[in-house]
Amino acid sequence: MLRNLITSKKARIGIIGLGYVGLPLAIEIATKGFKIIGIDIDKDRVSSINKGVSFISDVESAELKKYVRKNLIRATTEQRQLKHCDIILICVPTPVSVNKEPDLTPVIKSTHWIRDNLRANQLVILKSTTYPETTDRVLLPILEESGLKVGRDFFLAFCPERIDPGNKRYGVANTPVIIGGVTKKCTRLAAFFYKQFVDEVHPVSSPRAAEMTKLLENTFRNVNIALVNEFAQLCERMGGINIWEVIEAARTKPFGFMPFYPGPGVGGHCIPIDPYYLSWKAREYDFHTVFIELSARINEEMPYFAVNKTIEVLSRSGVCPNKAKVLILGMAFKRDISDLRHSPAIKVFQIIESRVGQVKYHDPHLPEIDVDHRKIRSVKLTPREIKKYDIVLIMTDHSAYDYEMIVKNARLIVDTRNAVKDGPRVFKLGAGIS
Ligand SMILES: NC(=O)c1ccc[n+]([C@@H]2O[C@H](COP(=O)([O-])OP(=O)(O)OC[C@H]3O[C@@H](n4cnc5c(N)ncnc54)[C@H](O)[C@@H]3O)[C@@H](O)[C@H]2O)c1
Repeated sequence: MLRNLITSKKARIGIIGLGYVGLPLAIEIATKGFKIIGIDIDKDRVSSINKGVSFISDVESAELKKYVRKNLIRATTEQRQLKHCDIILICVPTPVSVNKEPDLTPVIKSTHWIRDNLRANQLVILKSTTYPETTDRVLLPILEESGLKVGRDFFLAFCPERIDPGNKRYGVANTPVIIGGVTKKCTRLAAFFYKQFVDEVHPVSSPRAAEMTKLLENTFRNVNIALVNEFAQLCERMGGINIWEVIEAARTKPFGFMPFYPGPGVGGHCIPIDPYYLSWKAREYDFHTVFIELSARINEEMPYFAVNKTIEVLSRSGVCPNKAKVLILGMAFKRDISDLRHSPAIKVFQIIESRVGQVKYHDPHLPEIDVDHRKIRSVKLTPREIKKYDIVLIMTDHSAYDYEMIVKNARLIVDTRNAVKDGPRVFKLGAGIS
């Protein structure tokens, strides 16, 4: 019955959580003619969506408006709307606590909503990144409290999200998806639904395998970034070796090497968070995920490393760091997006403010940011403004920047991203100070 509803595009889709994952997904599913009900606890987001105004950089407001007008996308805060949905996708945050322990509160809350509205022939798909065993040991028991049986009455699967905000080449449709259902029927149904709007679907034998796949992907990135960050630190220590030159040389090898780049730390909702879900779970099995701990140690040190480099450059140039004026360029955690979550630039801002001198920032995608509950506005990036600072610290290499103009007007530059050409006043992270 659900298959028929999917084939005829009559299946109603519910998406819980309309953020970086949920909203682009809603658009992609709507392009195929499905009706979507988005459910979010954030009233502002709900009303913005219903007005066709996007708050996610990868989603154009014009496109959202088109589907809202066609009545294909509608948002609400009302959980009881879930009753009208045939397929429900959970795309809520999976943060960690201050002690880096998984916080499944939003996922569990969403699952309670679904349980209270569960009926026969519904398919539930968890998208949020989480530790292995969440789908079958946390969600399943809650959903079966409804009296309905998985694989017979309703269907449950895990399908990790792989979206890479800001990536122009790979989006929802052309990024293959992994699906692991609680039963074979669950996998088949979830895969059949996904094939309606995604080019390639790769089923695995269980939700646990799918959950672990996502954590392997993100831990792989985390570990490799930590590895090049350690190499960058060593290049600094040895002097005379430029990590950026070394990586460019290494990547000429056509096999067995994949380039990762150093930087001032890792950010976003995935790379700094997800590995902790795995290390926490592993402890239940008397297992210590050494690579995860080691990578966290190196990557979390990088904002401090970037600040120390800035202090060293200032001192060597005869500027007293305590009296220095520092301009940070780029606050978002990566290029060309406005996502500030866990951005190392925030940490750097805080360290400079508390231990060094005055600090201001510019980010073309973030006109205003929140630092320690204070609203701070981006300065205007003009030659005159740049000249006011003792040093410019490039934290995020947005492509909108006019780097020639920046180099021409800055007194000193610390470049943590290899964004500008080498020059007498340019000091690159991972390149030592000669
Ligand atoms: N952002 C990414 O690039 C990315 C990539 C892959 C996977 N993920 C994973 O996807 C999940 C969602 O991430 P995101 O970046 O979209 O988060 P987000 O913060 O951008 O969006 C989450 C949305 O869920 C809403 N929400 C929170 N609790 C809710 C609840 N109980 N009920 C309904 N709505 C609720 C929030 O208001 C918000 O609008 C996370 O597990 C994340 O790790 C994110």
